[in-house]
Amino acid sequence: MAGLFITFEGIDGSGKSTQMRMLASALRLRGLEVVATREPGGTPFGKRLRAAILDLHEQVDPLAELLLFAADRAQHVRTLLRPAIDSNHIVLSDRYADATRAYQGAGRGFSKELIAEVIELATAGLKPDLTLIFDLSVAECVARARRRMHDGHKGDRLDSEDAAFHTRVRNAYLEIARQEPDRVRIIDASGSIDETHTRTMDVVMRFIKSRES
Ligand code: ADP
Ligand code: TYD
Repeated sequence: MAGLFITFEGIDGSGKSTQMRMLASALRLRGLEVVATREPGGTPFGKRLRAAILDLHEQVDPLAELLLFAADRAQHVRTLLRPAIDSNHIVLSDRYADATRAYQGAGRGFSKELIAEVIELATAGLKPDLTLIFDLSVAECVARARRRMHDGHKGDRLDSEDAAFHTRVRNAYLEIARQEPDRVRIIDASGSIDETHTRTMDVVMRFIKSRES
């Protein structure tokens, strides 16, 4: 099978990282070659950028933030994503360009035109074949993220934005799904981890089969 590029999106705490891990294991059990990665921080250089961008104690100018996510993505596309897709792997990424549309576009307020230009520059046109948006109310995401912090997760600079910011981000994701129904699927993330996994498998296996036929 030719390479496939699937991205996982949603507001912080929606459960997308949990679901990506479970999907990666399930696909590997079926004998498929999977590369699991993330943004920011999918490459060695990107890990250093991630630490800087998300540092809770850092004051980051919004334009610097936008360009740093783009720099992380440029490195990711050129050194990891493109080569892995070209060698026919199934590449799963925990966030990609839609996160910039939602967080820096709707969240921070940069224009759609500027966001589109920066994304085009960083990705050189690489688009996901399939994007899964894990959708959950902001209140439930905050509750999950809080429980996760009790388990030792530190949280980051964007997690600490207010509910209005995360509501704008969620609405932007839903708008992207409405505009690109062929690429983007919304997955109801309000159920248990296993229920959401079943929904995710259903969408992904159907997509893979449609690609094979
Ligand atoms: P994200 O990557 O979207 O920020 P995570 O996958 O890290 O989210 O999940 C956030 C927290 O919520 C974690 O502590 C995780 O164990 C928990 N969680 C994930 N999915 C569910 C679910 N369906 N129901 C309840 N808690 C969940
Ligand atoms: P992530 O590792 O997915 O954090 P979490 O597990 O808490 O959801 O993403 C880190 C943060 O970076 C998240 O708050 C969203 C933000 N982000 C952007 O603002 N723009 C981007 O382009 C990307 C890739 C991430």
